[in-house]
Amino acid sequence: MLRGTILRRSVAILLLAAFCLCSACKAEKKEEKNSIRIGVCLYRSDDTFINNVRAELEKRVKEYELETGARVTLDFQDAKGNQSTQNSQVERLISLGCDALIVNLVDRMDASGVIDRVSTAEIPTVFFNRQPVEEDMNRWDRLYYVGSDAKESAVLEGGMIADHFRNTPEDVDPNGDGVISYVLLEGESSHQDSLIRTEWSIQTLKDAGVPVERLAGGIANWERTQASALMEQWLNQYPEQIEVVISNNDDMALGAVDALERADIDSVFVVGIDGTTPALDAIARGRLAGTVQIDLKQYARVLFAIAMSEVTGEEIPDTIELTEGKYYMCPQRVVEREAVRTE
Ligand code: BGC
Repeated sequence: MLRGTILRRSVAILLLAAFCLCSACKAEKKEEKNSIRIGVCLYRSDDTFINNVRAELEKRVKEYELETGARVTLDFQDAKGNQSTQNSQVERLISLGCDALIVNLVDRMDASGVIDRVSTAEIPTVFFNRQPVEEDMNRWDRLYYVGSDAKESAVLEGGMIADHFRNTPEDVDPNGDGVISYVLLEGESSHQDSLIRTEWSIQTLKDAGVPVERLAGGIANWERTQASALMEQWLNQYPEQIEVVISNNDDMALGAVDALERADIDSVFVVGIDGTTPALDAIARGRLAGTVQIDLKQYARVLFAIAMSEVTGEEIPDTIELTEGKYYMCPQRVVEREAVRTE
């Protein structure tokens, strides 16, 4: 009788122990699945556009955590414009156990240091904004790229000026000679967006039959202060002639605005590309004529969705269509001081 009771108790204890062990295992597995770590490498954290992408990405992750109850850690790294620093950061993020990486290359022509490391460690990677060459993108089937179509940005930017020339020519040709005299601010020469944006903003004006005269142009590396210095120089050279400033991005457009404000000139029509927060503010204040706004909400949504689908094994949502299974270009639209677009 006593022996029977002892036996029953032992079995119960054993069962209880086994149950506890099992629940602990399950909890651990669930914990593993519910906690995701994504490394995010930035070429420079002081770039306004990149900072805006970062802010949207953080928002998207918070939303996702609320929707799903999962925990997602974004581990940001700033390469401060140095590719070998970025390669070491990638190595460190891999050793920290990141499930996926989101990478804004420093040197888009030198992606091999990053690709070698992520493909060896089998960490899926989504590049953005600084596009690796096709040959590099084809080196592994878990590499993706998210960006915006540079030609589309420039066609919209040029189209904005052409619309004003047709509808309110005094905005872009204040001296009324029928020719738009412009200066052009270019981004880094190695960036895929600079060359294409420069070429197509002007080509769009020409295609629209708008007579143009280029007074000056120069590289300001996407930077507001460099652009401001160039503009100051051009204002000294052409004090009366500049009618339009065409900029490859918003920060340089704002640099031109800074120089114009210092010179107390408000008759020059300045346009940019990006739709960054300071640019939208400047448009609202009437300092900047317009911009081409890249849909940053969608940018962040897609970056995160691709990374997560690689981590969880779930399909990328149907609404996100990838070209060649790996490229996504974000939608963009014109934002202007006055809605004069007629098309
Ligand atoms: C943006 C710039 C930014 C650069 C950084 C470009 O696409 O228009 O504002 O500085 O990317 O790579």
